[in-house]
Amino acid sequence: MSVLTATPRIGDTRPGTTAPDDVVQMGGGYAFPDLLPDVSQIARNVASDFRTEALQYGPLFGLPDLRDAIVESVRADGVACGRDNILVLNGAKQALDLLLRVMVRPGDPVIVSHPTYLTALSIIRSHGAELIEVDLDHDGMKVDTLAQMLAARRSRGDSMPKLLFEVPDFHNPTGVTLSAARRQRLVELAEEFGFFILEDDPYRKLRFAGTGVPPIKSFDRSGRVIGAGTVSKIFAPGIRVGWANGDPDIIGRMAAAKSEGGCCPFTQRIVLEAMRTGLIDHHITELSEVMAAHLRAMCASIDRHLPDARYNVPNGGYFLWLELPADVSAAQVTLAASASGAAIFSGDLFFGTVPAQGFVRLCFATSTPERIDLGIRRIAEAIHRLRESPEKFVPGEATPLQRHTD
Ligand SMILES: Cc1ncc(COP(=O)(O)O)c(C=O)c1O
Repeated sequence: MSVLTATPRIGDTRPGTTAPDDVVQMGGGYAFPDLLPDVSQIARNVASDFRTEALQYGPLFGLPDLRDAIVESVRADGVACGRDNILVLNGAKQALDLLLRVMVRPGDPVIVSHPTYLTALSIIRSHGAELIEVDLDHDGMKVDTLAQMLAARRSRGDSMPKLLFEVPDFHNPTGVTLSAARRQRLVELAEEFGFFILEDDPYRKLRFAGTGVPPIKSFDRSGRVIGAGTVSKIFAPGIRVGWANGDPDIIGRMAAAKSEGGCCPFTQRIVLEAMRTGLIDHHITELSEVMAAHLRAMCASIDRHLPDARYNVPNGGYFLWLELPADVSAAQVTLAASASGAAIFSGDLFFGTVPAQGFVRLCFATSTPERIDLGIRRIAEAIHRLRESPEKFVPGEATPLQRHTD
């Protein structure tokens, strides 16, 4: 198909849009619509008090006041940082895209966990990079395995990776958190083998249990780690404000590679005012409580209706990684669940090269506890129907929407 051929739409399944159906949304990582913040007053004030700033082209690195506010919040998390380290972005995904643009040439290896965030996979693939995938366990990416892989590559004379992409807190899709010891070891490996680390941490502040682990960047003494932050998961994804925190030289190269020439000042000022007035912190507290309740509802419903499925309860974030009973395939369950009115993602989408079978990712953020319970019951029904007539559920290719969603 020509790249200019229009892709047929398969129906917009975003929550809160015009989807005509009763589908329970547990697929994409969309915000809980009932808890999107009310920014009407702030937006009105910005439109009047900051009219010329808000409607003019913005500065390339972002509004200086916002960069300073980000510095404060990064420092509060134990990471040394100044304004020159901060580049305001159009969301965290832009950090990955820009870093690949400035560091990676087609064919260069990029390290990811196995599985990893599916949109990161498509961004990395779009730059023609080769994927090096490293398994993970309950403590996140297995860094000893990575060390062995890197040593073997070096001794074979293979090309060495330029970049490692990692989601250390409440990993997407598995929900696991990288241990402190592994974070430190990862930085040592980056120094030893000469690669950079993109620490993509959108869920860090959405913790419901357990104690916090220092950011990977807090172990960095040589500028090898670039942190990516965003308000997408803690405030509103539609606002499209994120940032990168890194060595000024890398930050400068990323800024030079930006094609929009500076993010939208209107939304930057809204985010800044929301930070200054405490609206974001207040929102995070409320959101964490609500998300924890959604997760509890999901676990209780799975225990009741899918007793032969297995999972670990994540300590935060948006996602639960469910291991299905061995006699059904994840792709078929996803299809059957969709036919029954539950949108979920098949786990194989999250693996770069060799998909592991038998997992689905469930997002507990978007739907209410009651709807989550309905969705889990629909999955259970779907598995029942699949076992009776497997020939009815033959998965095709992933749809464009499935390939490009959070
Ligand atoms: C790992 C990860 N990174 C980043 C994002 C969000 O990126 P952005 O700030 O571009 O909305 C998501 C959202 O699903 C995510 O799961």
